[in-house]
Parts: sequence; C-alpha cells; structure tokens
Amino acid sequence: MSDNQTIHRAAEIIKEGGIVAFPTETVYGLGADAFNPLAVARIFEVKRRPYFDPLIIHVANPSNVEELVKEIPSSAKRLIERFWPGPLTVVLLKEENIPDIVTAGLPTVAIRMPNHPMALALIKECKCPIAAPSANPFGYLSPTTAEHVRDQLGDQVDLILDGGPCPVGVESTILSFLEEKPRLLRPGGVSLEEIESIIGKVEISPIKDRPSAPGMLPKHYAPRTPIVFDWSEKNLDLYEDKNIGLLVLQEPKNNLKFHFVEVLSKKGDLREAAANLFAAIRRLDALNLDLIVAKPIPEIGLGRAIMDRLRRATSKGE
Ligand code: TXA
Ligand code: MG
Repeated sequence: MSDNQTIHRAAEIIKEGGIVAFPTETVYGLGADAFNPLAVARIFEVKRRPYFDPLIIHVANPSNVEELVKEIPSSAKRLIERFWPGPLTVVLLKEENIPDIVTAGLPTVAIRMPNHPMALALIKECKCPIAAPSANPFGYLSPTTAEHVRDQLGDQVDLILDGGPCPVGVESTILSFLEEKPRLLRPGGVSLEEIESIIGKVEISPIKDRPSAPGMLPKHYAPRTPIVFDWSEKNLDLYEDKNIGLLVLQEPKNNLKFHFVEVLSKKGDLREAAANLFAAIRRLDALNLDLIVAKPIPEIGLGRAIMDRLRRATSKGE
C-alpha cells in the first residue's frame, strides 16, 4: 500500500472508533477521534494510563482551536502563529462539547498542531481532531520510531503509520494560559528562550509542584535499567564487576570503565541530542546493564527538555 492508501485506511479506522499510532515531529502518538469517548477510553486501556491524566488534542489547522476553547489570549495567539505547526501545546479553558475523558474532567484542554505531513494528512482526512498521548505504555519512554511502537503496543493498536524516526525526538512544550502570566508545564521541542523571545517572561513550575499537569509525575520516561546522574571514578570502582552504560552529550575522554557508551551528538548539538535521546536510552535498556550513568547536559535550549526527561527517568518515586 502507498502512504496515501495507508493514511486513508488509518482515517477510516479512526472514524469507526478505532485507535491508530502515527508519527509526529516530536514522538509517535496513539490517536482516536477526540469526540468519541469509547475510542478514547481504549487508548487509556492499551497504555494502562490512569484516567486522571488528560490527553492532548491534535488539530490540522490553527482555526480549529476556536471550536474547542472558550477564548484564545493574545499571547497564545502570537505563539500559535509563530510555532504552529510545531512542538508547542497550549492549555486553554475548554468548550463544553469536549468529552470529559479527554481532559480528565478538567475545565481545560491541551491542544497542538503537529508538524508532520502524515499526522496532518491523517487529521484532515478524519475530519475530526485527534486525541493522542505518546504511543508507549504509561510511565515508559516515548517512541520515536514505528518499531518502538510495534515492540511495545504491537497487536493492541489497529494500525501503525510508519513515518520514520521523529525529527525532534522530545515531546512538545506545554504552556498553560489560565493565569495572568503563561506558565511552562513541560519543557519540550520549542525552547523556553524561543517562547520568551515572543511573549516575554513566563512562569516556570517546579517539578514537584504541578497540580495543573497531572501527567507530569516525577517518575516517567523510565527505562527498566536504573539511571543515575551522580558518578565519579571512585563510585565506579564500587561497581567493578557490574556492567554500566554511559549516556553523554559528547564523547568522553575516558570511557574505559563503561560497558557501552551512547553519545547523543558528536558535535554537542542539543537539537541532535534531543532527536537521539529516547532511542539511545532504549538501546542502553536493551543491553541488560546493571546501571546507566547519565552525564548532566547544559540546561539551555533543548537541553532543558532533555534534562527534564532524564530527571524523571532517574527519579525513584511515582
Ligand atoms: O509531543 C507531544 O506532545 C506528544 C505527541 C504525540 O503530540 N504527546 C504527548 O502526550 O506527549 P502525552 O499524553 O504523553 O503527554 C501529555 C501531557 C501529560 O503530561 C498531560 O498531563 C498533559 O500533557 N496535559 C494534557 N492535558 C492537560 C491539561 N488540560 N492541563 C494540563 N496538562 C495537560
Ligand atoms: Mg507520554
């Protein structure tokens, strides 16, 4: 089947109440018709996701936001104009017609327009907005290839659209517009610096205090193998007989003690590093190591999203 035929089939499935995994520029999503509560419920079941964790609605045109929300503040409008289609999600007061299961009963809804030709073609062909979380079991790393989805959710989804590796590699940036000042709920594919260059300073929630982003539990994006940040040569001696993997931005000078080293970007480019992040952690996780050591990355640009995901991956508590 050609891509067009597969997208057509995927749209039919969604219109009939099925669920489809599809590529976006950030990560693969698992989508259903946002106005079909039963279809959306299947997403929660397949992911084993708690119902208190709301989904993002994906649209194919900025004008579609108007029918989903009460109003769009001017700062949100300016960001939408600048960054859509792209990895920016806006949280606004929702219109009553959106099913509660999508928003976990909140008075707000998260919306974005993805920048991927397959995602956009799919949403246009369905003629409905698509509610979609990342296409991974709850709490695990997001998938950045169709194969990642196949490995973990395979026969539980009705169809997987393969659009190759996701170019951005970390999820969208989530900004809430419910207070006077916009608030960053999740750092992601659009950097804080880019956002602040358009609308000025935004509020930044500390990781432990995010009542408005129920899905941002401390332990998230976690591989099976334990990940730690703190390491020193002395530390490593304690693990003499253990297999330890290293996750670093650039090639380390001395990596003799590590069983395997994943370099995120040879030239130290944070965009390239973000695009490689989840696949690199998955590769390390597949090696049955005793431990993964992650070397902290500068928290500028996409480094902020990378460190946010790594912190959650290293976190011990739910
Ligand atoms: O890049 C992305 O955003 C990907 C692709 C597939 O679009 N999607 C994604 O969805 O990362 P998910 O479900 O894995 O993460 C969505 C996050 C969750 O932490 C959820 O709690 C938060 O968005 N969220 C959704 N609706 C919200 C709302 N109304 N208020 C606050 N947070 C919300
Ligand atoms: Mg997710």
